[in-house]
Amino acid sequence: MPTVLITGGTGMIGTALTGLLLQRGYRVIILTRHADDYSADDNSVQYAGWNIDEQRVDKTAIAKADHIIHLAGAGIGDKKWSKTRKLDILQSRIKSSELLLSALKETSHHVKSVISSSAIGWYGKDENKPDNIGFSEDAPAANDFLANVCKTWESSIEPVSEKAIRLVKLRTGIVLSKSGGALEKFKKPLSAGLAVILGGGDQRVSWIQLTDLCRMYLFAIENENIQGIYNAVSPGVTTNKKLVINLAKLLRNNFFIPVHIPGLFLRLAIGEMAAEVLKSVTVSSEKIKAAGFTFLYPGLEAALIQCI
Ligand SMILES: NC(=O)c1ccc[n+]([C@@H]2O[C@H](COP(=O)([O-])OP(=O)(O)OC[C@H]3O[C@@H](n4cnc5c(N)ncnc54)[C@H](OP(=O)(O)O)[C@@H]3O)[C@@H](O)[C@H]2O)c1
Repeated sequence: MPTVLITGGTGMIGTALTGLLLQRGYRVIILTRHADDYSADDNSVQYAGWNIDEQRVDKTAIAKADHIIHLAGAGIGDKKWSKTRKLDILQSRIKSSELLLSALKETSHHVKSVISSSAIGWYGKDENKPDNIGFSEDAPAANDFLANVCKTWESSIEPVSEKAIRLVKLRTGIVLSKSGGALEKFKKPLSAGLAVILGGGDQRVSWIQLTDLCRMYLFAIENENIQGIYNAVSPGVTTNKKLVINLAKLLRNNFFIPVHIPGLFLRLAIGEMAAEVLKSVTVSSEKIKAAGFTFLYPGLEAALIQCI
């Protein structure tokens, strides 16, 4: 069976994706900054090391790969966006792409496709959109920090396609999962009975359930007609309030108190990131659906049930 190399494969998406790939009989190599911390549990998963700052990578891993999934990058929502953190978010993505590119150039390999993560942070606010339908892949990038990260991130991996390798970029929405990611942040106050709604709560949230996202990566690997940029969001775009209240009902029945956190307070607490969580963004899933992808969790409620 083919071998899939996953950069940043130790993270939330990479771990779930590894599980799916193994189930389907693929071999997986995880490229990590801490290869010594992991031991291969069987013959199907291996860990290989890289050092992005020093631009060093285990080239045997590249030589073995049939497909590369590029997920590595400093967590966008993990810490407040200080100047240093912003630089880390950007540089971890650019430098890891550059390292992959130079490794592909210097190694004899048989890589057929690279599937790279990107994010819907590319897009601007709904109100700046000329119509009511979601942003499609050809919409221009917004002009803020996250959009600039996405733009630079996507261009940093672009030269791969000049090497006759099929390149797919998945502009990923908020990933809903059992543990980690955005839902974790809403679940924590719910354990004390508080349903925390951000601002007015009417801002639209474009999300995808983790299982569907992993299936989309697999779909991109297995379908040679898939190339270029695709939004990785479910059709069931919701609002922040609906997301939080639905989650609260599932976790607490009716025993919760909705609490609105004013935008001003959010700006004080999390700084520039507040603009992102208060931003209404409706993103279209039409292109990936037209390519033949079907969602297991197109609607919010079933997706949330899967996450609790
Ligand atoms: N989760 C979401 O809602 C979401 C939405 C849109 C896009 N994405 C993107 O999808 C990708 C994977 O997301 P995830 O949720 O699985 O993230 P994650 O859990 O934070 O995992 C990312 C992995 O990247 C590696 N990494 C972290 N900091 C790094 C750095 N400074 N330099 C190089 N590598 C670093 C880590 O692997 P090692 O420590 O093993 O090296 C980590 O396990 C990310 O690029 C993320 O931005 C995620």
